[in-house]
Amino acid sequence: MNILVIGSGGREHALVWKLAQSAHTRRLICAPGNAGIARERLANGTPVTCVPVAAEDLPALLDLARRELPDLTVVGPDNPLAAGIVDRFQSHGLVIWGPNQQAAQFEASKAFSQAFMERHGIPTARSGTFDEPDAAKQFARSLGGRCAVKADGLALGKGVLLTDDQATAERAVDDVMVGGAFGAAGRRVVIQELLEGMEISLHALCDGKVARLFPASQDHKRALDGDAGLNTGGMGAYSPAPFLTEPELAAVGDAILRPWLRGCAAEGIDFRGLLYPGVMLTSTGPRVLEFNARFGDPEAQVYLTRLENDLVKLLMASCAGTLADVPLRWSPCASVCVVMASGGYPGTYAKGRPITGLGAAGALPDTKVFHAGTCERGGGVETSGGRVLGVTAWRPTIEAAREAAYACVDKICFEGAHVRRDIAAKALLG
Ligand code: AMP
Ligand code: GLY
Repeated sequence: MNILVIGSGGREHALVWKLAQSAHTRRLICAPGNAGIARERLANGTPVTCVPVAAEDLPALLDLARRELPDLTVVGPDNPLAAGIVDRFQSHGLVIWGPNQQAAQFEASKAFSQAFMERHGIPTARSGTFDEPDAAKQFARSLGGRCAVKADGLALGKGVLLTDDQATAERAVDDVMVGGAFGAAGRRVVIQELLEGMEISLHALCDGKVARLFPASQDHKRALDGDAGLNTGGMGAYSPAPFLTEPELAAVGDAILRPWLRGCAAEGIDFRGLLYPGVMLTSTGPRVLEFNARFGDPEAQVYLTRLENDLVKLLMASCAGTLADVPLRWSPCASVCVVMASGGYPGTYAKGRPITGLGAAGALPDTKVFHAGTCERGGGVETSGGRVLGVTAWRPTIEAAREAAYACVDKICFEGAHVRRDIAAKALLG
């Protein structure tokens, strides 16, 4: 098959790496890709082709697809999904994996998701949705100022302010609704009660009727060790996350996915793609903080290094509505991904720093350096974004996978590189 992958991050490198292993893949194109994706090869030796078309440029992506006629297009990031790329490609007879625009609202609008959860009895935080700052502040007061103030729309994975007291909550409401801290996405806000507990990522592959739950994973969203510093896109992840036994995970999955599937059926929402609920395990049970409508990044890097199924077949089954016939198979190995970021990320950072040591790192067994913000220059690789690399290792235990990932990180150098040193440490506390 001829496959087109859309996106340029670590998640898309992991998708390309896994799709390239499938015997069904004859040709793989990535728009726009990155330096690591451009170096991938298929099992038959054919190199992956990167084309410089941005993931948000829907007309140019459609032109590309009408020229290349992929048998399958795989969408990595949220923006093209929210903009309706799936509907557009389908109207031209193209097979494309990802939720359509209506279904992508689970991520594109927090107000939509929150109302859906409340309508269908999905466990979530107490919340209110507001178009007007005074009403938002009043609701914050009813929560004692302990809130998560969330812009309704997409805000590059940021868009959430956590507050501990009323004065901070009121400032947060003003920053988001009046000051435009997250742009137009923040004209409407969802305010949730501040929940406490262990946060995990769930993923379920869906085909419009069936949702197949993955093992649990955990991201590390803050920039600095000990979950200090600013929120980022994710500084590292691991799977499995040992906070739930298998029966507990199945029960949490059921508590969320059964009412979610019933609600989708009742409302005519045809979700074919990846549902990624962010979940807080609180003392009174699991609560969904938000839904995403795509693979997490860096969760994809740890899931796709554990997945034993042929990814082409899985994604085709998700598109075709035939997932009920395809059980997921997972390696018993644990996988740990450590992100190497540019110094200063998620604030301002330098680009164009040469990266060394990729050869030695790439020679290590059961280890993969996924590229995110990288580009080729003069035969070498240099930094071009905030999250630069996702160094991933898989081993029989989390402890061994973690050691192997850090041993690989220590072979790679670029000026200003920033790495959290405590990825997966929570899993070892026992
Ligand atoms: P979100 O974009 O909704 O995932 O929010 C970003 C981060 O803020 C989450 O990963 C959580 O760590 C935190 N967060 C979001 N909502 C809540 C909440 N209701 N209570 C506590 N923390 C939250
Ligand atoms: N792991 C965070 C995200 O993908 O949004």
